[in-house]
Amino acid sequence: MIPQSFIQELLNRLDVVDVVERYVPLKKAGANYVACCPFHNEKTPSFSVSPTKQFYHCFGCGAHGSAISFVMEHQGLSFPEAVEDLAKHIGLPVPHETTHREQETRAAQAAGLPEMMQQALHYYREQLKHSETAVHYFKGRGVSGEIAARFGLGYAPDGWQNLATLFPDYTESKTLLETGLIIENDEGRRYDRFRDRVMFPILNARGNVIGFGGRVLGAGEPKYLNSPETVLFQKGQELYGLFQARSAIRASGRVLVVEGYMDVVALVQHGVGYAVATLGTATTPVHVQKLLRAADEIIFCFDGDAAGRRAAWRALENGLAALTDSSRLLFLFLPDGEDPDSYVRQVGQAGFEASYANALTFSQFLFKELTRETNLTTEEGRAKLVQTAKPMIEKIAAPALQLLIRKRLAELTGLSTAELETLLPRAQVAPRAQAPHIKPRRAPSLPRQLLRMVLQQPDLARGVAIEGLDEESLDARTLRALLALLNRDPHITNHPAILEAFRGAPEETVLSEVAGETLAWDGDFDVVQEFQGALEQLCASARQKRIDGLLALAKIQPLSAEQKQALTRELSAGRVS
Ligand code: UTP
Ligand code: MN
Repeated sequence: MIPQSFIQELLNRLDVVDVVERYVPLKKAGANYVACCPFHNEKTPSFSVSPTKQFYHCFGCGAHGSAISFVMEHQGLSFPEAVEDLAKHIGLPVPHETTHREQETRAAQAAGLPEMMQQALHYYREQLKHSETAVHYFKGRGVSGEIAARFGLGYAPDGWQNLATLFPDYTESKTLLETGLIIENDEGRRYDRFRDRVMFPILNARGNVIGFGGRVLGAGEPKYLNSPETVLFQKGQELYGLFQARSAIRASGRVLVVEGYMDVVALVQHGVGYAVATLGTATTPVHVQKLLRAADEIIFCFDGDAAGRRAAWRALENGLAALTDSSRLLFLFLPDGEDPDSYVRQVGQAGFEASYANALTFSQFLFKELTRETNLTTEEGRAKLVQTAKPMIEKIAAPALQLLIRKRLAELTGLSTAELETLLPRAQVAPRAQAPHIKPRRAPSLPRQLLRMVLQQPDLARGVAIEGLDEESLDARTLRALLALLNRDPHITNHPAILEAFRGAPEETVLSEVAGETLAWDGDFDVVQEFQGALEQLCASARQKRIDGLLALAKIQPLSAEQKQALTRELSAGRVS
């Protein structure tokens, strides 16, 4: 865990303009800088970076955030990775409140585990140059030298202790054992895990090698041998080829998920650069989250057989909670007997990409599977459909998609949406932060006006009481949360710090929208008086609502003593101000 105070210090030291400029050339335009948005395709710039407010904002796709979120989104890093990266750049050591896992990882780093992996990678690559059979194998599968270099493909020669030439402390080193590169048997004898196999290095998001897959050259069992899970390598979190695919993913806005190492290599070889593979495991929720951070469209590609369908279903189940209304999941099933490697070889890039037209959308695949063995002409069949759909629908985090799927379920079962709602009550799903594509052009609500002012000048909020603000809109809730935060934490003084404090919270969407609205505001005009006025108006209107409520109640039943007191209090408070 990185302490909150450090995040704020880091944000204070960074300049978002510098950070963005590292990746995207910026042009000065008035008080701000502009560029074509790196997060969606466009020809005229709608992406702005504000040096005074220290955030970026895209009017086209709604991308918004601080220097930290920029690095996360642009480089596909996790939050701690992005913080590390930025801190390193300005020579600031990152303090850690360490968890057990982090302690383990750092101990491993201190012991030189990543360096050992790197050395092994280098060794296997060198060995490939010296092995005619291995080179012949890759050539036979259509892999060019360029692609072999891009993936760092290698060869582990035959023999039990080849790595001993590389690691002089082969027989003693505890760290070497922890790399998973060697195995120790019951008698304490050590030997190389990978022998006479072509090697596929697995890289993490920063391009460091964390594991390997090794394939036999001919027939043999197991066909693929993989690194075991180590402190560096967790299969359920990593995707083969993601590091190499990054720029193609960004350019195309999509990512293709396949099952095999060779599928990725062959796809890239044929021009489908945005391909990644799970590592012999089902697609996990972490995978889907990672992928959706990289692109809005994920195409899962599976064999057309029953096993492929099962794997696709697992991917769907694990995607439910990570879905947003701007994301698109597609399920592509290949013709019988083909895998992505053989298929792309046969039809080429254009043919492969044309086949996406036959892919099933998330909801098509969902209903296809749910109704597979259900007879919808009977009441019993339709009742069963509601029951099997229920737990899935409840998990869908994207509010609009969930609603549309409920509608479809209603149609299929012949229930009205209201009837369906009694069987499948709608939970209050917090909307996830996502690109607001359409901006309503209404006069901003009072809470929203206040939000703008507080974002412009966070100090305004210090010491402001929030009890009166009981309006239930999302804007009002966000305003309450923001005021509470600013009163609780005196270290939060600027916009990026506010954004970071709300990362992942339901308020995040509103805050980024509002911040975008303030982008055109210049400098620091005096909003103190305006703020006071708007705040009083808001409190007054909230009070009026409470009074109206009590008066309406009084018409149908006698008020309790407590309610009478409240009414007197509210009425007299109204007169004072
Ligand atoms: P496949 O058996 O479908 O192989 O395994 P493939 O990718 O088509 O391999 P080639 O074309 O024969 O070289 C798909 C993936 O499942 C995992 C690997 O990650 C592999 O890429 N796997 C498969 C293993 O981990 N171990 C195995 O023994 C087999
Ligand atoms: Mn294959």
